Amino acid sequence: MPHVPPRLITKRGIPAGQAAKEMVHVSATPVLALRGVSKRFGAVQALTDVDLEVHAGEVVALVGDNGAGKSTLVKTIAGVHPIDEGVIEWEGNPVSINKPHDAQGLGVATVYQDLALCDNLDVVGNLFLGRELLHRGVIDEVTMEKQARELLSTLSIRIPSVRIPIASLSGGQRQVVAIARSLIGDPKVVILDEPTAALGVEQTAQVLDLVERLRERDLGVILISHNMADVKAVADTVAVLRLGKNNGFFPVKSTSHEEIIAAITGATDNAVTRRAERRTTEAAK
Ligand SMILES: Nc1ncnc2c1ncn2[C@@H]1O[C@H](COP(=O)(O)OP(=O)(O)O)[C@@H](O)[C@H]1O
Ligand SMILES: [Mg+2]
Repeated sequence: MPHVPPRLITKRGIPAGQAAKEMVHVSATPVLALRGVSKRFGAVQALTDVDLEVHAGEVVALVGDNGAGKSTLVKTIAGVHPIDEGVIEWEGNPVSINKPHDAQGLGVATVYQDLALCDNLDVVGNLFLGRELLHRGVIDEVTMEKQARELLSTLSIRIPSVRIPIASLSGGQRQVVAIARSLIGDPKVVILDEPTAALGVEQTAQVLDLVERLRERDLGVILISHNMADVKAVADTVAVLRLGKNNGFFPVKSTSHEEIIAAITGATDNAVTRRAERRTTEAAK
């Protein structure tokens, strides 16, 4: 194994990214890597020395309790909150992400929880919102509709019609349209913030299917989720944040539900600490 700086060794002893490399399909150089990233909001240290790696064709679940720093981490990658310290690497090279435009230019697409869809526009209008195709200065509805159909079909997304207003779609359908829209700019990394939080069982399955389509297209996916069943169903790697710091990287296949929960809540920490304390007390007797 190559030399790994101590900072990249997690509490469980798995170096950042090693969990992913246990998967055969994953290439060695991550498409996106965060190394020692810190971010402060006034007196609040939201992120401290955080590492994260995402490879092409890998789904990384980013989990952690409320306030753990998940949204902040995603926003540093998306260029909403530039980092204070650390390095962001894109395909192995350091890059600056200071504004959303920088992230988009690299190939990062983010689907936020509120989706920001326009209810009064139809599916085509939403997919191409802000990126409308023009033909001789006029919006080219025909080509946009054709491309919308093709995109939805390659993603196996079934929508009654691409010409119905977004307002008439179900929550799951809206979510898949929002994810499909993020692919219009041909990104390499897609970040999904709690895509199934408001959905029922069947609609959740539809979204998880779509996440698998994204992986098949060799995209790197960062999936924020509170739902361990979703994480187990679709992620390759789980990155746990706790109090703004890394608290473990786990290969999903060989990690139990309980181990992930323990890392989220810090139960592992506490058990270890209590044991160490007990030993110290016993030794002193
Ligand atoms: N724009 C902001 N200004 C000040 N504090 C913030 C801001 N965004 C997040 N925080 C703080 O940073 C910490 C991490 O929050 P967040 O990234 O939203 O966590 P999560 O998404 O895991 O629930 C919290 O203490 C939160 O209050
Ligand atoms: Mg959040």
